[in-house]
Amino acid sequence: MTIPLIKKSISSSVLLFVSLSVFCQNTPVKNPGNVTAVHIEQQKVSITTQNAQAEIIVYSPSIVRVRVDKKALLPDFSYAVINKPVVAKTSITQDAQSITITTDSVKTVVGKNPFGVSFYTKDGEAINEEEKGLQVSWVNEEVTTYRKMQNFEHFVGLGEKTGNLDRNGSGYTNWNSDVFGYRTDQDPLYSTIPFYIGLHDGLNYGIFMDNTWQSDFNFGASNNRFSSFGARGGELNYYFIYGKRVKNIIESYTWLTGRMQMPPLWSLGYQQNRYSYYPETEVYRIAQTLREKKIPADGITLDIHYMDRYLLFTWDKARFPDPKRMTSKLKDMGFRTTVIVDPGIKVEPGAAAWERGLKDSIFIKYPDGTNYTGQVWPGWCNFPDFTSAKGRNWWKNEVKFFADNGVSGIWNDMNEIATWGQKMPSNVIFDYDGKKAAHPEAHNVYGLEMIRSSYEGALQQYKERPFILTRSGYAGLQRYSAIWTGDNRSEEDHMLLGVRLINSLGLSGVPFTGMDIGGFSGNPSVALYTRWIQLGAFIPYFRNHTQVNTKSSEPWSFGEEVLEISRNYINLRYKLLPYLYSTFNEASENGMPVNRSLVFDFSDDPKIFDWQFQNQFLFGQAFLIAPFESSKDFGKIYFPAGNWYNLYTGNLEKGKQEKIIELSNQTLPVYVRESSIIPMQSLIQTTDEKPSDTLTIHIYNGERNNSFKYYEDDGKSFQYRNGDFYSRLISYSPSQKMITFDKVQGSYKSNFTKIHIILHGFSGANLKVNGKAASLKEESYSMLKAISSFDPQGAQYTGPVEGVIAFYTENLPDKFSINY
Ligand code: GLC
Repeated sequence: MTIPLIKKSISSSVLLFVSLSVFCQNTPVKNPGNVTAVHIEQQKVSITTQNAQAEIIVYSPSIVRVRVDKKALLPDFSYAVINKPVVAKTSITQDAQSITITTDSVKTVVGKNPFGVSFYTKDGEAINEEEKGLQVSWVNEEVTTYRKMQNFEHFVGLGEKTGNLDRNGSGYTNWNSDVFGYRTDQDPLYSTIPFYIGLHDGLNYGIFMDNTWQSDFNFGASNNRFSSFGARGGELNYYFIYGKRVKNIIESYTWLTGRMQMPPLWSLGYQQNRYSYYPETEVYRIAQTLREKKIPADGITLDIHYMDRYLLFTWDKARFPDPKRMTSKLKDMGFRTTVIVDPGIKVEPGAAAWERGLKDSIFIKYPDGTNYTGQVWPGWCNFPDFTSAKGRNWWKNEVKFFADNGVSGIWNDMNEIATWGQKMPSNVIFDYDGKKAAHPEAHNVYGLEMIRSSYEGALQQYKERPFILTRSGYAGLQRYSAIWTGDNRSEEDHMLLGVRLINSLGLSGVPFTGMDIGGFSGNPSVALYTRWIQLGAFIPYFRNHTQVNTKSSEPWSFGEEVLEISRNYINLRYKLLPYLYSTFNEASENGMPVNRSLVFDFSDDPKIFDWQFQNQFLFGQAFLIAPFESSKDFGKIYFPAGNWYNLYTGNLEKGKQEKIIELSNQTLPVYVRESSIIPMQSLIQTTDEKPSDTLTIHIYNGERNNSFKYYEDDGKSFQYRNGDFYSRLISYSPSQKMITFDKVQGSYKSNFTKIHIILHGFSGANLKVNGKAASLKEESYSMLKAISSFDPQGAQYTGPVEGVIAFYTENLPDKFSINY
């Protein structure tokens, strides 16, 4: 009985061998094969394999670029990457099996038989490895690299992507899409950032695949073997980034793809919007009501109805007879005007912008030279080719229209490109800066190049910091614009999804982000609106927006109590502007996000990936925000390592614990991280108004060393680049029991002449300033007072002894320290 079985197994293994070799020969999946030639330069290795060409280039000690193509590699070109390799100590050695490229931080090993690329620490720990047997492969023109799934590997980032914070188990596609009222698990959405961060065994790395074709990322979705990334065309071109902490990876990624400039201060204030406010009297009514009801605000945004029949670069003169007068009147009231622009220019003989575009031949075209025509708001439209210098220059001149009309912000919409039917043909040709690309290659960068044109146009026309907003984009969009998450819905899970989208964008190099507060489509419940606007105070771009034909969504539209709560939180936002502006300075200097998923600081703590806690985030370095559905009476919070103070009561919560808290729709759960340093100002109604002469700095007792770079400038010009800023480092060292204010840097004269320091949780008994006992008065003081006089159901300060208040005048020593 056994013999036939053995025979069977022999014959089946023979069969398997035969079929495998047949499989390998005839496979539709092609690999590079073995390495046949190697050419080594200082920081670069050029490799020829049986079926491909490759290059490995050291960009910095921690950034290594890999290029692989079936054909010869084309001249280098990128819309995303703005930096060239820096000189980095590199040793490159090879033997029969592999090539090893070692920098001060990372070891790249290129296998020769077959070709494959893996990354290790200098001590040889695997960071990211080729999945043996699969390597790089092509299926027709689609190229993919397969990476071994590491133990308990987590994946975060990838820009504006739905789903969980940890992307393990999910797969994503990048193809910029117009997705009105998208589902909370829908993919793709509006923008493409092919950059993610992987974490395992205490090691963190980033991968940025710079390929503008439709691309796919698989983090172990439908397979138990690998993560993979690849694109439907073009070369495999990626940057591997190693960093000790998530922060270092974001810093390196934004060194490659650029960082935001300082935003105009007004753009950090509250922005009121709807689809659409018109006519002019309605715009005034909104502006006046905001002022009358003492809701601080800085922006009014006009949606498509300001245009004459949606014709670009026009005003509907019946609705807006004198736009310049209107914007200037709004400016006098402390409001800046932002208007929407879409790329579609109506095909209409006699329409000025279309005629100018036609004359200058700046529209994207079919191969037969006729302009591509697609339908969008105005009807049949042509679309400027922003991937050509000519198209961009044309647009930059057109932007003068906004400058001439006193418009301060340019809101770029529908730039995926969106057309009715959502199927732009593949044979539409883009200039792609002289290289010519058909639609599938150019699609994902169209939005990026549109905002580049708007930004550069605004720079030319305004000579002030422009505010640009976009719906679509590609890696590097942070250089030009803020982004919002498009047409969300007035639903609880959309509010929470929005938080995750914003947090993920922050991990992907984009700090200036927002979502439609209150939800775009549908009508929020009173409770949902309340929770959302509270949350909005802790979101970088704070705009309330809603669709045409929905109920009014201004803060006064939901009754007196909601008005009061909204005002409280908007007030808090304005008082926090010195803190927020300093945080934006960090974003502009090193790419750090404003809203920080907990993985930013606590990547070693697996709890933060738990779906129950994944929406929690830090607003800057100090505030822990725990967003919950407004319908919930109780919520479970996870406090990561350290001590956390309840913002409202001052009560201390120990870290590394879960806690169920009672929720109230009057307050958003907010906690302050121990050792935080939070500068605040007096309440103002618009950033045009000067706050009082006193800067209040809250410092929270803690066991953690911390520092905060306080930053100010004029909030509007680029003079800060010439040193006209005011900054000083404030450091807190618990081991030395000392708080130090460093010497002021920069030539800008601070808006404040006094500093009011409020120490939370300190005893105050041995307080000394510059070694001398300070005359100090103790007060009971809590942030509750700083929020407003509105009493959230009688919450009282019950925290530890706090409220030691030191008062300084303009005779402040340039550098001083406080001992306690
Ligand atoms: C798009 C935008 C939305 C805007 C509408 C009308 O749907 O995403 O914000 O209000 O177009 O312009």
